[in-house]
Amino acid sequence: MNIKMNPFNPNATVSTNLFAGRTGQILRVITKLEQVKNGMPASFLLSGVRGIGKTALAKLIRNVAGANDDKLGRLNFVTSYYSVENGQDIGSALQFSLNELTDQLPKSAMEVLSSSLGKLFKNGKFSIGVFSAEVETRQSEEVIALKDQMVAVLTKLVETMRSVQQGENKDGVLIIIDELHNVSNLNFCAQLFRGITTTLDVKNKGFVSFILIGYEETLDEFFEHDVSARRLFDVINVDVMPKEEAKEVLVKGFQQIAVTWDKADLDENIMVTGGYPHAIQMIGYNLVDADFDKNIGKDDWKSAIDRTARELQTKEFADMYNFKGKNTLREKILDILAVSTRPLKQKEIADFCDGKNIYQYIAPLKKSHSIRVDPKTDTLELHSHLFKMAILLHIFPRIHEEGYLKNVMEAKS
Ligand SMILES: Nc1ncnc2c1ncn2[C@@H]1O[C@H](COP(=O)(O)OP(=O)(O)OP(=O)(O)O)[C@@H](O)[C@H]1O
Ligand SMILES: [Mg+2]
Repeated sequence: MNIKMNPFNPNATVSTNLFAGRTGQILRVITKLEQVKNGMPASFLLSGVRGIGKTALAKLIRNVAGANDDKLGRLNFVTSYYSVENGQDIGSALQFSLNELTDQLPKSAMEVLSSSLGKLFKNGKFSIGVFSAEVETRQSEEVIALKDQMVAVLTKLVETMRSVQQGENKDGVLIIIDELHNVSNLNFCAQLFRGITTTLDVKNKGFVSFILIGYEETLDEFFEHDVSARRLFDVINVDVMPKEEAKEVLVKGFQQIAVTWDKADLDENIMVTGGYPHAIQMIGYNLVDADFDKNIGKDDWKSAIDRTARELQTKEFADMYNFKGKNTLREKILDILAVSTRPLKQKEIADFCDGKNIYQYIAPLKKSHSIRVDPKTDTLELHSHLFKMAILLHIFPRIHEEGYLKNVMEAKS
């Protein structure tokens, strides 16, 4: 049997050679890391919904930060990536992060650390955040203790790795912490990270950068307890990809396995993904799987769309939308939100429905979590990008054949 190579996988993080787009965000981080290299600390929060590409972006940045590439800022950092487990405390996550860094340190640096850090660094391993269980410590004391330990470790780390002999020396430290929502003591994280970075800065040891990754709600909660932390973090919003970037994801995969593709079909069909990376990977996987003649054309798109639609519509969203029966006003409202490139006000939706009374439908849709409201702008949007794709796939034929919802697509954004 001939087993086909499939470069797409919605359930794994894309490898660096297949990573596409995100140039603006990457450059923003690289520019700042060039400053960190000169002792001006900078840290980042990557924020965005599930499956939007936060982890993939962080992984790419990590690669660049350690690559020492002339074209990409000549960054020669030691780097770590750690994904927090459900209920884990931040001290433990930081300890894992520090220990991941040791593999990248020159031997001579390890010796210096052993002789200077005492019980914080023993037998080649960092040990921080372990507080006595018997003595009840107040949380504020715990933050201070943890901060002091991190500062002590990072100060020594930075000093040694910058001063070892030429060729072995490093620019700084990049610590990436993913899945921030899992942290058990999120309420003191902002204060902790602010404490660490400002203290290092004052001591002229600001060669350290943190990247924290979370959903928007998590980051709101993160800052809630320490508003001053806002100044210290660059928030980078990861959002859906513009059309050209979304196409690039597929093109890179096709090139990798040396299949050709029909440009017009790609251009016409890419919209079904809504620019959502998880959806692009799903469609990509099914396109390659459907292909027999080493050219991704109309037929492949048709079967990939059918299959992806079936996967989504029969499982996840069967209760939220009637994919089989007639389109009622409820479905029309959801169709409009699927096609729109931005959240809409209720009045706008009503206008697109020729002024029909849509208001009675809104409350149940909210209640079933099909849509969600942004209270700041009082606008509505679909609850998830995959739901959006399930609907787009369903109405796609009508969009093309009947010009369905043309008025929504042509409306000014
Ligand atoms: N720039 C990109 N180029 C190619 N594929 C990408 C890109 N960004 C994300 N992907 C792919 O999209 C899928 C979702 O991305 P990723 O896991 O990074 O999202 P996430 O925001 O971290 O999601 P979660 O919130 O679930 O952790 C993965 O299969 C990933 O490989
Ligand atoms: Mg992730």
